[in-house]
Amino acid sequence: MANVFESSKVVSLFKDERVLYPDFVPDVLPFRDEEVSELVFCLKPASIGRKPTNVFVFGKPGTGKTVTLKYVLNELKDYSDRAKGIYINCFEYSSKQSILARIANILGVAVPTRGVSSQEVFLRIIAVMKTTKVIPIIIFDEAEQLLSDDSTKDILYDLSRLPEQQKVLLGLVFISNDSFFLSNIDDRVKSSLQCSKIPFEPYTVPELKEILLARTKFAFFDYSLDKEVIPLCAAHAFKMGGDSRVALSVLLKAGRLAERKNSKTVSIVHVRASFLEEKPVKQEVTSNLSRQEKIILDYLSTLSKKEAESGELYKKFEGEYSDRSIRLAIALLKEKKLVSCKQVKKGNLFTRLIKKVN
Ligand SMILES: Nc1ncnc2c1ncn2[C@@H]1O[C@H](COP(=O)(O)OP(=O)(O)O)[C@@H](O)[C@H]1O
Ligand SMILES: [Mg+2]
Repeated sequence: MANVFESSKVVSLFKDERVLYPDFVPDVLPFRDEEVSELVFCLKPASIGRKPTNVFVFGKPGTGKTVTLKYVLNELKDYSDRAKGIYINCFEYSSKQSILARIANILGVAVPTRGVSSQEVFLRIIAVMKTTKVIPIIIFDEAEQLLSDDSTKDILYDLSRLPEQQKVLLGLVFISNDSFFLSNIDDRVKSSLQCSKIPFEPYTVPELKEILLARTKFAFFDYSLDKEVIPLCAAHAFKMGGDSRVALSVLLKAGRLAERKNSKTVSIVHVRASFLEEKPVKQEVTSNLSRQEKIILDYLSTLSKKEAESGELYKKFEGEYSDRSIRLAIALLKEKKLVSCKQVKKGNLFTRLIKKVN
């Protein structure tokens, strides 16, 4: 009998599907010229040994924040040896040790894996900055995550004071979906950071179409897509908040489905079918939650009405987490649409009712 893999015939519609993967960084970024030049303006001084301006980048999911920063870092790498980009996703690097280890690693600081305190790693980083005169540009992506834990908040405090205390230069870029990120940080830290703010607006339908079209040229063979496919993906992504990630992921899924069905082209039938598969996106969100967010969701699931007052949540996790970090976690869950919040009156007071969605 033929091998099962051999007998599964595959028509190739994709030239290179990797072009549609979420972490692919394209050579050109349509509609982000202004944001790119603003970033260049803030960071370029580092390439000639001057002080860069710190930046706060904010906007809804899928507005191109991450890809724009990665694009700018790639360009910076080709342009300057003096400035050194360090990209840190704060979900991935969520502890003080792991963040410092990553910075040390990229700056080429030798750090033994055991028996070294964070303080010692920090001192070694400073020493290397002084001897090499390299200016680190540290990008904290999903930066609101830094505020969920006291030890990672320390990093913010330490880094913000570094230029003045140690006479070394560095640039910091914070990326967040939460436009209130800056107002949630300590006043002293905020005032020494002096961040320049760059908002990222959601894409319109014509913009989404053009972004998709540019990617499609590299991802699919010429004959692969029916002409209604891109407009439909763009319209759907616009409905989902102008999120380019949705547009690309729907197109990728539709392409795979069309191949599996041995279809000669990708048609709107495949696109519609891939709308129904939106679930994995949510799973991705849930696997990226902070510990506080997870325990809140877990706790709400145990309740019959799946809801609790904010005060009840503070009390429940008292001793383990501060009210403030629980409040932040609730705000993040709300932003990710995993909980809903409602003001309710209780006696003479207003309180918030937090309810798990689904
Ligand atoms: N202007 C653009 N041109 C091309 N691709 C883009 C553009 N903006 C976003 N993308 C793509 O859309 C997806 C989501 O963008 P991303 O930067 O991850 O959004 P954010 O970080 O704002 O949530 C990524 O695959 C990215 O490559
Ligand atoms: Mg991002």
